[in-house]
Amino acid sequence: MAKAFLEVLNGERRDPPPIWLMRQAGRYLPEYRELRAKAGGFLDLCYTPDFAVEVTIQPIERYGFDAAILFSDILVVPDGLGQDVSFVEGTGPVLEPVRDAEAVSRLSIDGVLAKLAPVYETVATLRQRLGPDTALIGFAGAPWTVACYMIEGRTSRDFHNIKSFCYRDPELFGQLMDLLVEATIAHLSAQAEAGAEALQIFESHAGVLPEEEFRTWVLEPIKRIVSALRARWPDLPIIGFPRGAGAMYVPFAAETGVSAVSLDTTVSLSWADANLPAGMPIQGNLDPVYLLTGGDAMDAAVDRIVGACVNRPHIFNLGHGVDKQTSPDTVSRLVDCIRNKTA
Ligand code: CP3
Repeated sequence: MAKAFLEVLNGERRDPPPIWLMRQAGRYLPEYRELRAKAGGFLDLCYTPDFAVEVTIQPIERYGFDAAILFSDILVVPDGLGQDVSFVEGTGPVLEPVRDAEAVSRLSIDGVLAKLAPVYETVATLRQRLGPDTALIGFAGAPWTVACYMIEGRTSRDFHNIKSFCYRDPELFGQLMDLLVEATIAHLSAQAEAGAEALQIFESHAGVLPEEEFRTWVLEPIKRIVSALRARWPDLPIIGFPRGAGAMYVPFAAETGVSAVSLDTTVSLSWADANLPAGMPIQGNLDPVYLLTGGDAMDAAVDRIVGACVNRPHIFNLGHGVDKQTSPDTVSRLVDCIRNKTA
């Protein structure tokens, strides 16, 4: 049987829809926490193929999702460029901030593929290990989102540092973005080469820029990445996730060249159906907080989503990642709820 996830990305409808969840591998699973403790640091987990393969497969074994997403992180790219990146318990990612010309000049694309070689080995092994129904997704952060972490140095609320950097010195900021575009193309190409069957580009901080700046720093870089990938792999599906983009989902879907868009929790499905390019597959968009409450309320929310997507190819997913407080049993209930449904 063909892989349902890939069929939908190629424009077919499947009933029930294929399902996978952003952050389906992670701390809500006891088997993840156990392996994570063995690996030591989070980056050690990402760079040790035996471990990374195992944690990628854990949620597939438990739930039989239609797609596995490579276990890695969007911040391996700045790590590969030579920035100091670490993950601190209770804080999240911490990076040595890049805020001036000197810091930008210290970054280099030369070592990226060598440093990230274990990631591509993970992809190749996964491709052999996954069963015939499970598709393999590779991914990267979009340049704007990765730059947010590189410049802010950690998770930010107001994005003052990156915005002041790019409003004050668009030329220097543009140099950093050019470097990220090149590194992202190389990183995604290497994943495709190693066997990824679809790619997702995470633009998690798409929702913080005014329109003009959104066009320059979100749309344009992603367009360059997608067109470079298309030149080499014309049939490889690419999903874009411009979280928080609001009305800018429309030019994002129409102009970047992506094959499909992943909708965040706040996007109205009827609005999306009326405004996104005809026939474009959509992915989403259950609020991950429903996985904390579960029960009939969650089942009803799932019904509404599946019911609202009958006119388009649809991949069931969340509007953002699985929260670490989620009970693994609630995820089972979610999968049962979708699979027992015919719309
Ligand atoms: O299962 C999967 O989805 C695959 C793996 C994956 C991770 N991160 C693993 C991870 C993917 C696709 C990502 C993407 C990612 N990473 C994004 C884009 C998606 C989004 O959530 O908006 C972003 C912004 C990051 C950066 C990042 N990595 C942050 C902000 C954090 C800390 C937050 C947290 O939950 O602790 C991470 C760490 C991280 N990446 C974890 C996992 C499983 C938790 C690490 C741990 O075990 O301590």
